[in-house]
Amino acid sequence: MKAIITGVGHFTPEHRLTNRDLEQMVDTSDEWITSRTGIKERRILDKDKGTSYMAVKAAEMLLKQRGISADELDLIILATVTPDMPVPSTAALVQKELNAKNCWGFDLNGGCTGFLYALATGAQFIETGKHQKVLVIGADKMSAILNYQDRNTCVIFGDGAGAVLLEPSERDDTGIEDFILRLEGWGWEYLNVTGGGSLNPATHETVDKKMHYLYQDGKTVFKNAIMGMSDISLKIMKKNNLTSKDINLLIPHQANTRIIDSVAKKLELTEEQVVVNIEGYGNTTAGTIPIAMSEAWQKKMMKSGDWIMLSAFGAGFAWGSMLLRWSID
Ligand code: UT7
Repeated sequence: MKAIITGVGHFTPEHRLTNRDLEQMVDTSDEWITSRTGIKERRILDKDKGTSYMAVKAAEMLLKQRGISADELDLIILATVTPDMPVPSTAALVQKELNAKNCWGFDLNGGCTGFLYALATGAQFIETGKHQKVLVIGADKMSAILNYQDRNTCVIFGDGAGAVLLEPSERDDTGIEDFILRLEGWGWEYLNVTGGGSLNPATHETVDKKMHYLYQDGKTVFKNAIMGMSDISLKIMKKNNLTSKDINLLIPHQANTRIIDSVAKKLELTEEQVVVNIEGYGNTTAGTIPIAMSEAWQKKMMKSGDWIMLSAFGAGFAWGSMLLRWSID
């Protein structure tokens, strides 16, 4: 039994924060942001809404496209670093809004690799025959943890959500084929939010020290992201006897076009083989890959049987690659 993707959906908020807008907020320029990151604008969710709002919208698009009701879901796995609140899980809030009466679910924090972690986890429940319909969501409201006075981070990230449905199939020529995932905790100090957890519970002091905001040592993350994503992608291709010519599409985590271009170069992939949508959304953390996948499917960039490779790198450090054969006609 293989797990196949039978539905996709995504949601991005309407409000656009452009590079020009950011020029009014911090010491930056459209030229710097565009040339260093490839980002032109990002979407920002309303202040009074949380990550679950976007996750529900992405799931609703998916359920409509697949033509099933939320009652049929067995499990919801939600990858996020920006849960609506510490307790309960954001998956619980999504379950309530969708009125998915027959499922269980949980949140998963794999940083920017969260969607790959969640997809690999969900696939296991299908492959064992335990579940028939697993909803996997990647969603983040990064604007909630950004300091809009810190030009190192506030120009990079945005808000958004994407979702896929996993179901079983007996077919050999489609489905989740393989994944290699990694976690190396020495990287924690280069990308983190140190305030508000059990180590440093929120106090006036943690807020004064801005510990509730995202911190990133961009250079270190940049270097490791290129190495990590390209090494692991080459490894999984080799393991499955595939060359760059066999890969129809790489859908990479969207953190920086320079990272994507370097990885594509190392993998010997052409521009046409790589999905890039960072220009319009920035880095939506767990949202980037499922949003890009849903958009690519809408644009008819893949057909059933195509080899798709997913790859991501982020906080932890957590990274990995997945190979799948596309399964929606
Ligand atoms: O998704 C999770 C994983 N995250 C990533 O993969 C992100 C990886 N990192 C990056 O994408 C890049 O490192 C950044 C886009 C964050 C930064 O680009 P960079 O080329 O590594 O820049 P830098 O941090 O080395 O900074 C170069 C200069 C510095 O000025 P000095 O010290 O050379 O005078 C920065 O202060 O650019 C300055 N700078 C800016 N200038 C204008 C940093 N941010 C900005 C800004 N606007 N927004």
